Amino acid sequence: MLQAKERYNVAVVGATGAVGQEMREILEERQFPVDQVRMLASERSAGQEVEFMGRTVKVETLTENSFAGIDIALFSAGGSRSEQFAPHAVKAGAVVVDNSSAFRMHDNVPLVVPEVNPEALQNHIGIIANPNCSTIQMVVALKPLHDAATIRRIVVSTYQSVSGTGQNAIEELFTQSGQVLNMQEATAKVYPHQIAFNCLPQIDVFDELDYTKEEWKMVRETQKIMGDDTIRVTATTVRVPVFRCHSESVNVEFENPITPNEARALMSASPGVVVFDDPSRNIYPLATDAAGADAVYVGRVRVDPTVENGLNMWIVSDNLRKGAALNAIQIAEQLIRNARG
Ligand SMILES: NC(=O)c1ccc[n+]([C@@H]2O[C@H](COP(=O)([O-])OP(=O)(O)OC[C@H]3O[C@@H](n4cnc5c(N)ncnc54)[C@H](OP(=O)(O)O)[C@@H]3O)[C@@H](O)[C@H]2O)c1
Repeated sequence: MLQAKERYNVAVVGATGAVGQEMREILEERQFPVDQVRMLASERSAGQEVEFMGRTVKVETLTENSFAGIDIALFSAGGSRSEQFAPHAVKAGAVVVDNSSAFRMHDNVPLVVPEVNPEALQNHIGIIANPNCSTIQMVVALKPLHDAATIRRIVVSTYQSVSGTGQNAIEELFTQSGQVLNMQEATAKVYPHQIAFNCLPQIDVFDELDYTKEEWKMVRETQKIMGDDTIRVTATTVRVPVFRCHSESVNVEFENPITPNEARALMSASPGVVVFDDPSRNIYPLATDAAGADAVYVGRVRVDPTVENGLNMWIVSDNLRKGAALNAIQIAEQLIRNARG
């Protein structure tokens, strides 16, 4: 349990990665009450210096002993690092907020989006899981609609940026774009196929039903966060040559009637959601507009006339911010509010 304190000792695990860099920026931006900070990464980055809150901090190698005196450990260094090191952080007395999928479906680990289920933070065993980026933006937008009209079924197709895979994938899209424009063969290392000027209908590995792990995450995590495993979800997750922000086409069937105007009003009044929806002026959310912003943007809200109570919409958010670092830091802020009472 986190104690009430003026300032907290914070560890950023994976501090040099795509999410870790964003963590550092958002901690600064939001003036998180940091006392001491420890930046942790692999041996490859040890000794590198990063600027943080006006100080120069040396990156250290992550070890089992990295967490002495740490109150809050923000993990974004991959699932196997979380599995190996999060228990050591907890043993040392830290509360872990983990960005990987390692603990998300564990019964005693809350899976939290502060706008949706902050109450889940009341019971934890030292580890809080941050959901998958595509799931976070979808549930932030849909929660007020579920409360009002009860969601029965969701059909979602995602258009996910390469930064969702991390720093190496960002570099791969840069490199391949140059290669293709220069009439050279694109070399694919991170993805199984060329991502530049292409769409890959595969994120992570396939299971025996030919769904990917990412698709199942959207199904199971949505049910766990919404606290309702009767919501039927089916997903197709696609990687697209966009650097930043995930976009989603979402079809929702409700138990009760709800009009597009009612849905827009509910979402506009909901924390963390911005409705950006005026087709007559070509206004709808775009990845290029949402990059670097905190909100979840919704547009193209319209009736699905093929079912009784159906709506279609388009949801866009910055996967590195609300989809990862920002949500993790909001969880930590909520833990602090809970501790301070
Ligand atoms: N990108 C997203 O939108 C997103 C969204 C939600 C969740 N996540 C999750 O966040 C985690 C990090 O993702 P990312 O996109 O930031 O990846 P990334 O850019 O590849 O960064 C990985 C980070 O982990 C560190 N790391 C790798 N191996 C390590 C080891 N053996 N010991 C210590 N540190 C190690 C790296 O350090 P070095 O620089 O020293 O290699 C780097 O800081 C993943 O679990 C991912 O699933 C990502």
